Amino acid sequence: MKVSPSILAADYLNLGKDIKAIESADYIHLDVMDGSFVPNISFGFPVIDAVSAVTRVPLDAHLMVVHPERWFERLSKDGVDMVSFHLEAAGRSTGKCIDLIHSLGMKAGIAINPDVPVSRLFKYIGKADFFLVMSVFAGFGGQKFIYETLDRVAELRSEIARRGFETLIEVDGGVSTSNAAALRESGTDIVVAGSSVFKSDSPAEAIDALRQA
Ligand code: DX5
Ligand code: ZN
Repeated sequence: MKVSPSILAADYLNLGKDIKAIESADYIHLDVMDGSFVPNISFGFPVIDAVSAVTRVPLDAHLMVVHPERWFERLSKDGVDMVSFHLEAAGRSTGKCIDLIHSLGMKAGIAINPDVPVSRLFKYIGKADFFLVMSVFAGFGGQKFIYETLDRVAELRSEIARRGFETLIEVDGGVSTSNAAALRESGTDIVVAGSSVFKSDSPAEAIDALRQA
């Protein structure tokens, strides 16, 4: 699997050092929270600009915001490669959001919280580049992995395969070596990991362990 460490769990007073420590990652996951879609505020463009300037690792922005379409252009200017937004936030504009992200040259992903049936993603198979299946409720780092996620990923993976596509599935929340192998078996392509990477003694080894799970 590919690994996308979430800098939500990084040390903001030493962010440059923490970004260096994850240079072996496949992506860097940027959790943008607006205090409205989720009851928490994380960081915005000043931080994304700063990260973008010091790394060549592709940036994977996860928008936990209302009106996600307002921010796509700015993210593309920051050199972000992958953008996911929540189906619960975009509603009927979901198709339009995907087109907009594509027109800006980025990969488009649709995120869902654990209480949204994965079947609601089916009509975007073949349109979205990836799906982000939350394994905790969006809003905070360091939560416990919800095991029902494994069945949800398997259900989504089998529908993607049935339709003859290879859409990527990213899983986010509470990921560690204790659930990574099960995630891979269920059909996950990319794991997001905040606490389990940044709170470990060696982020590089933690990334390797998840990748090889
Ligand atoms: C939750 C975020 C996650 C989170 C992952 O709202 O989307 O990306 O930061 O952090 P851990 O791995 O600590 O659950
Ligand atoms: Zn995230």
